Amino acid sequence: MKIMAGNSNLPLARAVAAYLELPLTDASVRRFADDEVFVEIHENVRGEDVFVVQSTSFPTNDNLMELLICIDALRRASAKRITAVVPYFGYARQDRKPGPRTPISAKLVANLITTAGADRVLAVDLHAGQIQGFFDIPTDNLFAAPVMAADVQARYGGEALMVVSPDVGGVVRARSLAKRLDNAPLAIVDKRRDKPGQSEVMNIIGDVQGRACILIDDIIDSGGTLCNAAQALMEAGAASVTAYLSHGVLSGSAVERVSKSALKELVITDTIQPTEATQNSDRIRVLSVAPLIGEAIRRIADESSVSSLFD
Ligand code: R5P
Repeated sequence: MKIMAGNSNLPLARAVAAYLELPLTDASVRRFADDEVFVEIHENVRGEDVFVVQSTSFPTNDNLMELLICIDALRRASAKRITAVVPYFGYARQDRKPGPRTPISAKLVANLITTAGADRVLAVDLHAGQIQGFFDIPTDNLFAAPVMAADVQARYGGEALMVVSPDVGGVVRARSLAKRLDNAPLAIVDKRRDKPGQSEVMNIIGDVQGRACILIDDIIDSGGTLCNAAQALMEAGAASVTAYLSHGVLSGSAVERVSKSALKELVITDTIQPTEATQNSDRIRVLSVAPLIGEAIRRIADESSVSSLFD
């Protein structure tokens, strides 16, 4: 087995390799003067089971091209099996046509990864489970929920908890976390805009009075969804609001927005390499999914069960 890394999240790739007690494959993934990606693998990979760790996070298009070109280089170097390990799968939010004449970019990216030569895909908390079906190759979708649940138990286990979904679409994810927290009660933030141009009204479904609320979502991008939900929960009488997110996209001034928000703490995972602003924020904490990814890789290589990781 070999672990190769693109440049999108080297600390995570190194941590996964360390978990597996393997060195990273000796390769250069660099740029020509005009920014085209160039990959050179400096060791023999013929007949090897190779896992390429690369999140397609910001800069999304560059990181996606790096992933595709790494896979192409491995295929041409006769690797036996290539698994694209994509901890954060970008373009996932465009997974259906929201209107006429719009793309389904998640499907296009799935096609690109397959065409480049990947034999399998390993992702973490895909935005929508059905994205697995966009691939005609085996795709494992790992859940960060066990890592989050252990952290919630350790930090907030003694409090009266309420798991909250920040929108109706996230209820399944929130319910799965609640189940892992001894069936904690569940609340939902229901956003409504009755007429175009009118400001959004946030209704809380569930009684959050005096509760330590655990908001859960897959992505924090601008931070709008979470910060507004946190505000609405505090106004509804919550004792505190902590948010757990799989993917800290945190674009633009999101970190600043979080630090000015009603959130007690934002907990993200390292599927995306945290920026300096994120690392310096005293309101944001990062949990590592490296052991989870490392264990899944070990099981794929050994051909043992990956789903039993979540029992
Ligand atoms: C939406 O479907 C996602 O689950 C997130 O709620 C969304 O991407 C968060 O975006 P933002 O932080 O910009 O509100």
